[in-house]
Amino acid sequence: MMKNEIERVLISKRRINRRIAKLANMINKDYENKEIAFIGIIKGCIPFLNELMMHVNLYCTVDYIRASSFNGGTESCGTVSVDPVDSLNIKGKDVIIVEDIIDSGKTLEKVSKILLEKGAKSIQIATLLDKPAHRTVDIKVKYVGFEIEDEFVIGFGLDYEEKYRNIPYVATMNLDKLKEKTKW
Ligand code: IMP
Ligand code: MG
Repeated sequence: MMKNEIERVLISKRRINRRIAKLANMINKDYENKEIAFIGIIKGCIPFLNELMMHVNLYCTVDYIRASSFNGGTESCGTVSVDPVDSLNIKGKDVIIVEDIIDSGKTLEKVSKILLEKGAKSIQIATLLDKPAHRTVDIKVKYVGFEIEDEFVIGFGLDYEEKYRNIPYVATMNLDKLKEKTKW
């Protein structure tokens, strides 16, 4: 059972849900009379995008793109890989990219570039969490759930080596307990 490795609840489910409803209200105002093309970056975006879109009262479409910069572990490897996205039709559309967390910003820089090349009319970013401490590229993020300190977090879609995405809140990890468990 998952237990020991979870250190403390950083952001409760209640706070997350309340904040997501607020972000959706901002989107409802900003995109009034427009249609939104949500593009979620899987896998981390799923709980956030799921909750967000259900508070959006405009016409919207949902698609996904797969990108990763972490090869497991807690440090970004610096190179971002994005799966081919030939099937995405976003020409002339108002896109909102939905991400779980922004760290260096490289993932979003790359995904934004790809979507612009594919003819998006406008691109904004919605992220559940923002960790500005490690930012290496300058990107503008319009919708931020919570800004957090420079610590590794899991839950509400965020993983450590593909696990813990199902924790219904955002938590910090006890890295010593984790090392014991995985015997690094
Ligand atoms: P960036 O390209 O450095 O901005 O990295 C963003 C990606 O790194 C996110 O999509 C996450 O998958 C991952 N990431 C960054 N910080 C964390 C964290 O604290 N916990 C889990 N994943 C993280
Ligand atoms: Mg991710």
